[in-house]
Amino acid sequence: MSQNPNSDSALAAAIPAVICFGLYKGLKAMEAHDVLLYLFGGGALFCALLTSFRLVRDVQVGIALKRLLKPGGIHGRVEQLNGYDPRSLGLHTDNEDGNGLMLGHLMGSPAPELIYYKGDGHGLIAAGTGAGKTSSLSKGWTVGLGKHHNRIITSKGVDIAVATYRFLTQELKHHVVCIDPYRLMAAHGIQSDDFNPCDILVDLAEKESADIFDKAREIALCLIPEGLEASGENKIFRSVGRQFISNVLIYLAIEQAETGELCCNLAYLNRLLNSGTEDLLEIFSRMAIIPHFDGAVARAGKRFLSQFKNNPKSAQSFITETQEGLTIFEPATPIGKSCEYSTFKLSDIKNPNKNVTFHIILPPEKSGINDTFAGLALNSICTTAIEADSFHPQVTIIADEFENLSTAPIPVIERVLKIGRTRGVRLFAFIQDQESLKARYGQLSSMFWTQAAVFMAMDIRNVEEAEEYSKRAGQRSIVTDSATIPKQGGEFDVSVNEEGIPLIRLDELTRMPKFTAILFKEQNPPLMLDLVHYKQIDPWIYRIDDVPGSPAEGHFPIEYRA
Ligand SMILES: Nc1ncnc2c1ncn2[C@@H]1O[C@H](COP(=O)(O)OP(=O)(O)O)[C@@H](O)[C@H]1O
Ligand SMILES: [Mg+2]
Repeated sequence: MSQNPNSDSALAAAIPAVICFGLYKGLKAMEAHDVLLYLFGGGALFCALLTSFRLVRDVQVGIALKRLLKPGGIHGRVEQLNGYDPRSLGLHTDNEDGNGLMLGHLMGSPAPELIYYKGDGHGLIAAGTGAGKTSSLSKGWTVGLGKHHNRIITSKGVDIAVATYRFLTQELKHHVVCIDPYRLMAAHGIQSDDFNPCDILVDLAEKESADIFDKAREIALCLIPEGLEASGENKIFRSVGRQFISNVLIYLAIEQAETGELCCNLAYLNRLLNSGTEDLLEIFSRMAIIPHFDGAVARAGKRFLSQFKNNPKSAQSFITETQEGLTIFEPATPIGKSCEYSTFKLSDIKNPNKNVTFHIILPPEKSGINDTFAGLALNSICTTAIEADSFHPQVTIIADEFENLSTAPIPVIERVLKIGRTRGVRLFAFIQDQESLKARYGQLSSMFWTQAAVFMAMDIRNVEEAEEYSKRAGQRSIVTDSATIPKQGGEFDVSVNEEGIPLIRLDELTRMPKFTAILFKEQNPPLMLDLVHYKQIDPWIYRIDDVPGSPAEGHFPIEYRA
């Protein structure tokens, strides 16, 4: 757009109009000749008309300019952060049906409303230690879900289990199972449960179901996981080790089903492995003559026998691999002692007539040693839940310390992520950051992002992650204008330029205030949330007990109603 104030402006036409009109008036008073009157009168009229045209034109240009200077939004619908009503993104502000997981409070909103996710999808929460995950998310979820909703909870130590035990058992009437081999609950006067992950094999052996092969293989895979950097000879030994574990377990399951002797458990297998070749060879010989499962067990027995006879050195290598996988089930250790049989039924997780909460409890100082056990327990419960093939009762897995539950991918997790939605099993996994998840799950880790309906991050310190979230948040459009001011008699120029800038910048993410989170719900623009401590919420503050021995929580005024 350009204008020349000297020749093209409204003023340039108005001045001659005034002059002509003044002359016309003067000439008229002097009673000058008609021709002169017509000349100046016409001139004044012409200039006046030109002035009005130019005024109209200038107003139009002004309006057009105003419009240009506003963002047109061609860079997406996103114009400002938190410019969306959480409800329009499929989130909720009530939890009447008890399916909601409370995520926080919309930053900047004056209403004391809590935001809940109620869908069937999965969630991923990335935050370091001390970010508020336990106090502002997982404890509240444990007591905020309705009675009809079953829960599986993993956490560091007994904190959540003890804090919510009274409410879950006495008020919600849940059957609370504490898989707690170290008996950490005893200090709080609460009975722990024993768990034998191989129980299910005995059931399947009784039913002569061929499912037993898959189940046994899965247990073996939890015990001897395939790390990401696996390669070479060791990989073969591990593979044979897994075959060994699964076949011997199937044999022991058949034995237990027929004789009732408690032998199908990992402590028994551990003892067998460590008591010398003689005992092993005897087991293989016994396996070699049983007819079950079309002779599959017998064939495995014969195979192991000939391996020991013809190639004792390699046999020793896979035995070593297996012994390693089973060390935590040394019969003298707490885990070894608590795995003879289960004091609860796994199938309760999908029993429509039961309401259950499962806690998997290991001492925090032992994480890194006993991960396998936690992973195996989680794997067993989830497999049962997925295979029940029923949406109800719904199950929420609140997996604190998710990456520390195993040293390699937990086999069932891929199925949970892919089909959990239709089987009423949703996984909310807490991770430290993306790197730690990748370290465990490798290529599978991208599936967490593609499958998670909710992603939340707090305390972001990693610049690459911040950059990724900033990109994912998208852009807003801004309009910049530039003008050249005319020199005397010159033209002036205004140019406008619309461009995209990040909706939220990388540095805004790395400097987010403490106890605030960025939330991505599916493919929507992000919301910024304030985390809400359970003590700020009525009635959760009355449902969650203080845990003796844990650092006392501060005082928080009650500001919200759940
Ligand atoms: N929303 C909140 N506002 C203020 N303080 C909080 C909030 N959430 C948690 N805290 C405090 O932060 C500390 C760490 O919280 P915690 O939930 O244990 O973190 P994490 O589980 O992520 O390690 C606790 O002392 C807790 O009282
Ligand atoms: Mg915590």
